[in-house]
Amino acid sequence: MHLVNLQEQHTIVNAFIAQLRDVNIQKDGMRFRKNIERIGEMLGFELSKSLVYKTKSIATPLGKSSVALPEDHIVICSILRAGLPLHTGLLNVFDGAENSFISAFRHHTSETEFEIKVEYLATPSLEGKTLIIADPMLATGRTFMNVLEALKPMGRPKCIHLVSVIGSKPGIDFLQKSVSKDVRLWIAAVDNTLNEYGYIVPGLGDAGDLCFGNKLSH
Ligand code: URA
Repeated sequence: MHLVNLQEQHTIVNAFIAQLRDVNIQKDGMRFRKNIERIGEMLGFELSKSLVYKTKSIATPLGKSSVALPEDHIVICSILRAGLPLHTGLLNVFDGAENSFISAFRHHTSETEFEIKVEYLATPSLEGKTLIIADPMLATGRTFMNVLEALKPMGRPKCIHLVSVIGSKPGIDFLQKSVSKDVRLWIAAVDNTLNEYGYIVPGLGDAGDLCFGNKLSH
């Protein structure tokens, strides 16, 4: 798997990440969602450098302009529910993309054990397309694997990108071993640890709850 971690560069994305993590600032749900959306736009911009481009001629009122434009047929797939603001950010950048939505949640079999359940899927065909999967928190990596499995019958994408805001080192190591080396991961920060509940430490807490409020647990 090819990894681009924006944390390795000094960019404005670090300021958005700092606000997402800050225990006081993150209480402002609108700012929290907006920061995830802004990171989606920045990661989308980085990802756009890896697309396939073809030069086209554009007619302006005064003449012709040659411009290299992306050729990829993009499908953005969000993992509900925390993926929604990230999806919006990516769609702001790739505004001609098709869209796909999938639900994945942690079904707890004990306080610390859980399995990932995928239930809802609405998607166009993925055959030959550039698939971008959006999930803000890459904790164990198991959600990505389950989602990739659930999407398999929907067609074989030309390439697969994973876009995430914060990941854990163990989750990324797991994906490095589990997915093809052609898959690309675009991420804004990586933390070293997962706690016994599968939460990223220091992380930011529960991204879904911070975006949309508490939910009943299953
Ligand atoms: N999902 C979250 O929202 N936060 C984590 O730390 C892990 C998974």
